[in-house]
Amino acid sequence: MNAHVQSSAKSAEAARTAATASANLFELPELPYAEDALAPVISARTIEYHYGKHHRAYVDTLNKLIIGTPFAAMSLQAIIEATAKDPSQAQIYHNAAQAWNHTCYWRSLQADGGSVPPPALSALITSSFGDLGALKQELATAATGEFGSGWAWLVLDGAKLKVIKTDNADNPLGSTRRPLLTIDVWEHAYYLDFKNRRPDYVKGVLDTLINWKFAADNLPTG
Ligand code: FE2
Repeated sequence: MNAHVQSSAKSAEAARTAATASANLFELPELPYAEDALAPVISARTIEYHYGKHHRAYVDTLNKLIIGTPFAAMSLQAIIEATAKDPSQAQIYHNAAQAWNHTCYWRSLQADGGSVPPPALSALITSSFGDLGALKQELATAATGEFGSGWAWLVLDGAKLKVIKTDNADNPLGSTRRPLLTIDVWEHAYYLDFKNRRPDYVKGVLDTLINWKFAADNLPTG
């Protein structure tokens, strides 16, 4: 093989590697509403930082960490499940989980007072909690009671809905509990709007912003 052919072969290989890496890089998903849509509970300024800086940073950092590794060919959920119990991959796990959690969080919210639970979800709420008020109370207790940074979740566990909370970047993926919606209780989610009053942020979210249709859409079909 002459030098020119070798050089071309190397260029082609480099281009293939770059294409493979870029094809599998994760992108920051678009917000499903305008930045000011959730005000006054979640201000445009909070969204500007929480979505535009924090969420973007998790995605960008993950991409930098996985370029050239086998993780670059995996789905976000597969990366999370593969790294969750491996301390040597903690940095990839934290950024992958935070990228996934935030996308779930933005979709768990909506403007205009939230929504009414669709019939299939409503029936599960009744059989699991008694009524919607009791579910909201459990979510409020989990969200306000989480010590430090973390998440409150509505999950489907077998035939029952449950409310759970997780620390830091952890989420229910890879367990028997299927996540339906989540509330972010890291300080960056509410500090600009509520300072240290996390219970007021949680109440505002539960009273006016929850997208119950998103939760219902996450129920298994059939
Ligand atoms: Fe967050």
